[in-house]
Amino acid sequence: MRSQTEVVHPAWLRATHWLNALAVVVLMMSGWRIYNATAFLGFAFPKGITLGGWLGGALQWHFAAMWLLAGNGLLYLGFNLASGRLWHRFFPLSPRALLADLLAALQGRLAHADPQHYNAVQRLAYLFVMLDSVLLVLSGLVLWKSVQFPLLRELMAGYEGARRVHFFAMAALAAFVAVHLAMVALVPRTLLHMLRGR
Ligand code: HEM
Repeated sequence: MRSQTEVVHPAWLRATHWLNALAVVVLMMSGWRIYNATAFLGFAFPKGITLGGWLGGALQWHFAAMWLLAGNGLLYLGFNLASGRLWHRFFPLSPRALLADLLAALQGRLAHADPQHYNAVQRLAYLFVMLDSVLLVLSGLVLWKSVQFPLLRELMAGYEGARRVHFFAMAALAAFVAVHLAMVALVPRTLLHMLRGR
């Protein structure tokens, strides 16, 4: 059994996690307002869930929060790599373990006894959101300074392609957040660990 004094999430992880959540909320809501200015997919987001009031205001919010996301994300990845935590928390990850944990989760019998250990579904979801965030930043760089990043721009099939990559990566991030919050609601103890560290 785990001792109550054992640290589950170190302070740097909790700080970067909550700053990241703040950046994502601001980026998403202001991003929806920016999208509405040229709704290239034929629908608009309701104004009430957007941030910035108008295109110029939304861009200011978006540009401010992008520095927070990128800087904070680099700190998170840097600490995770330097401490070796990335490898022992998220690997190994095999298709077999993933299938077994997915089946167990669907049957409501996935164990949560040890909060130090992420199951295979959590590992995949968290690795996915890390890569998705990198894709969001890279496609965002093309939209921000497309002339300065010609290689990235061409890899994303030009400016219009990068717009779509950015939008669908945002949609994947929104889907992750919805599932993530549902999981936290199902196992509220994990929220205490992410707030208090133990
Ligand atoms: C207010 C919204 C959020 C809440 C309440 C929340 C809550 C939590 C909790 C409780 C955990 C620990 C899960 C566990 O021990 O099983 C966690 C981990 C994590 N969350 Fe969130 N989260 C939120 C938003 C986000 C967002 C927006 C992202 C990413 C875009 C995110 C990415 C992650 C990642 C990657 C981890 C694993 C971190 C690690 O161990 O390195 N979260 N979150």
